[in-house]
Amino acid sequence: MIRIERITDRHLNALCELEEKLFDASSFPLSRRAFSYHIKGKGILLGAFEGETLAGYILVFMYTKSGRVYSLGVAPEFRRKGIASMLMERAQEIVMGRRKSTLRLEVRSDNLQARKLYNELGFVIEKTLPAYYPDGADGLKMVKTLS
Ligand SMILES: CC(C)(COP(=O)(O)OP(=O)(O)OC[C@H]1O[C@@H](n2cnc3c(N)ncnc32)[C@H](O)[C@@H]1OP(=O)(O)O)[C@@H](O)C(=O)NCCC(=O)NCCS
Repeated sequence: MIRIERITDRHLNALCELEEKLFDASSFPLSRRAFSYHIKGKGILLGAFEGETLAGYILVFMYTKSGRVYSLGVAPEFRRKGIASMLMERAQEIVMGRRKSTLRLEVRSDNLQARKLYNELGFVIEKTLPAYYPDGADGLKMVKTLS
């Protein structure tokens, strides 16, 4: 069974190992120092756990009127089980509870699986971000209005 819980300092090693599996230099991976900062920050950092194993995580930044999904990832062996959807839905509830009206995110335009996920979760493309990523790939800014 998967549990969604806040990530704390004791999960830092597992989180850094997961990040290494998920993102290479072309996708802005987060450093240990950055995770450590976000654990204490005002954003939302949630993990999906099976037992003690960290299967996935989501990091959402909070702005005045909106939230921004900065990162979302699920370990390869846990994919297609609905974990990213669970993380996103839980984060979205928290964002709504903090009275924000929109949720935004950026995704590589060539990341078709993530785009399909976001599409199904109700995000729409707001604009294209030409050559947004370090390797020159375009990005898409997507938005969802929370009700
Ligand atoms: C994208 C990612 C987060 C999806 O995680 P996940 O837990 O497998 O996603 P879910 O199981 O919640 O998928 C929900 C829906 O999204 C779509 N989807 C997810 N992965 C997909 C894939 N590989 N191919 C096609 N559709 C996919 C499907 O519609 C899926 O529903 P279904 O399984 O009933 O068909 C995961 O593949 C990942 O971590 N990728 C690498 C990191 C990354 O790209 N993060 C996003 C950066 S913006």
